[in-house]
Amino acid sequence: MKNILITGGAGFIGSHVVRRFVNQYPNYHVFNLDALTYAGNLENIKDIENKPNYTFVKGDILDEAFLEELFAKYQFEGVLHLAAESHVDRSITDPLAFVKTNVIGTMNLLNVAKKQWKDDFVGKRFYHISTDEVYGSLGATGLFTETTAYDPNSPYSASKAASDHFVRAYGETYGLPYVITNCSNNYGPNHFPEKLIPLFIHNIIEKKPLPVYGDGKYTRDWLFVEDHAVAIDLVFHEGKNHETYNIGGFNEWQNIDLVKLLCQQMDAKLGRAVGESEKLISYVKDRPGHDLRYAIDASKINKELGWKPSVTFEQGLEKTIDWYLSNEEWLKNVTSGDYQKYYKEQYK
Ligand SMILES: NC(=O)c1ccc[n+]([C@@H]2O[C@H](COP(=O)([O-])OP(=O)(O)OC[C@H]3O[C@@H](n4cnc5c(N)ncnc54)[C@H](O)[C@@H]3O)[C@@H](O)[C@H]2O)c1
Repeated sequence: MKNILITGGAGFIGSHVVRRFVNQYPNYHVFNLDALTYAGNLENIKDIENKPNYTFVKGDILDEAFLEELFAKYQFEGVLHLAAESHVDRSITDPLAFVKTNVIGTMNLLNVAKKQWKDDFVGKRFYHISTDEVYGSLGATGLFTETTAYDPNSPYSASKAASDHFVRAYGETYGLPYVITNCSNNYGPNHFPEKLIPLFIHNIIEKKPLPVYGDGKYTRDWLFVEDHAVAIDLVFHEGKNHETYNIGGFNEWQNIDLVKLLCQQMDAKLGRAVGESEKLISYVKDRPGHDLRYAIDASKINKELGWKPSVTFEQGLEKTIDWYLSNEEWLKNVTSGDYQKYYKEQYK
């Protein structure tokens, strides 16, 4: 039995990764370490909470002494690090919170893993999950590859870029066996409704305005979260040490086209007239430092590890909408309380 630490496993992507590892690998004991911030929700992983190879640990990656105790007690052989502050808009209002969790928190985990593994790195792996936003913005053409220079524009992407650099530096300087993946925008079940797709699903259900930034021409690549979890599983087990892999959906959309597709699918699901939800689209003032276009060249992971997305965007979006429509209680719970205050501030 190997003890594996997954951080941020009560969040959006982390919950899908935890579920996959608990179900696929009975020979691993999965420890899910999460501080349960506004973005963490144990409801996301309720279906596996009683599995014998799973333990939830409430804790903060900013608490190094606590991390040391945890590592000493459970002797983790692998770390999958997903805990982070992850929302760009929030990073604009409170950048320091992002430096703390994303940079210092990652440093704490690196230090504790290095100390615990004491240069005996055989069979150990530190896997840092990162974003394509570290590469900055693309013009109308081109793709981010693993060798694209880092050029982050938001406090969020700057903090993720810094943490990527530290992980790499611990590999080069101390020999820590690491892998990093930089992934494009995820969507799917359990996504907190501050990000575009779940926010708009929520607003369409409630017939509230759909706030589209600027002219709606911002372009992103989208990947279904369960396909990301499969890629993470593959890289954790078969990726090469000291390597970076880009993960993407081969699936670029301008925001406005995506929103229109979402409106169409939602109208059909909700039995509303064609075009009804599109009337909710409302253009709002752009956010500062908004990157025009992200697009991923995911050919390395495709060629070396044989990974590719399993669903089309239309299929993934339909699965996502179905999940939100049959989990209205989840949506209600996460959009009560503090969420209302945040929403008013953000879109006033
Ligand atoms: N969502 C995306 O589209 C996307 C794309 C590429 C990469 N990523 C990266 O994937 C990771 C997960 O993203 P997500 O969208 O699931 O994020 P999320 O915000 O949904 O979840 C983050 C989780 O981390 C936990 N957490 C926050 N601060 C913590 C701390 N100090 N100590 C312990 N736990 C803490 C939260 O409680 C939450 O459960 C992040 O590192 C993010 O940068 C996300």
